[in-house]
Amino acid sequence: MKIGRITISDRAAAGQYADLSGPEIERLAGSWFGGGTEFVSLTVPDEVPLIVAALTKAADEWECDLILTTGGTGISPRDVTPEATRLVLHRELPGFAEVMRMQSFAKVRTAILSRALAGVRGRTLIINLPGKPSAVRECLEILGPAIGEGLAHLRGEDPHRTTPPQA
Ligand code: MTE
Repeated sequence: MKIGRITISDRAAAGQYADLSGPEIERLAGSWFGGGTEFVSLTVPDEVPLIVAALTKAADEWECDLILTTGGTGISPRDVTPEATRLVLHRELPGFAEVMRMQSFAKVRTAILSRALAGVRGRTLIINLPGKPSAVRECLEILGPAIGEGLAHLRGEDPHRTTPPQA
């Protein structure tokens, strides 16, 4: 299992701000998937071409099973994570973001401001998370089981299949 975590923030990329959310992703995802998990990380500013380059590097070159981004999903003028993510996705998975927003909204009203996307590029599952460490925690707790299911399907291991697939 290889997980790419990408922190998307002008201030974190400029070293003006300690990135707490990227390490939080690693802590939580590491606790689910166990010791064999390899993490790769990138930090990029809120610029579409740089986000696209980071996502394609992690998916195509590093062959990550899962990429979790944090930050840039809102509506402030520099927030462009969803625009960049849409450019690299082969198939969108709207359910991930719908559930993340619905369940988060029950706790924090500002959850409705996140435009996070999720989807698949090749065999890589890509999910945008909001920027705050507490939001990363809340969203990963919501999505954990669905991420496990999604990864199994991408590997061709449908956990619900009782008979082998026919040729
Ligand atoms: N989702 C959860 N679960 N918890 C939160 O605290 N914060 C929201 C929202 N989603 C939040 C959340 C806020 S304040 C914003 S502005 C948007 O995510 C977008 O955040 P981002 O631009 O850092 O990605």
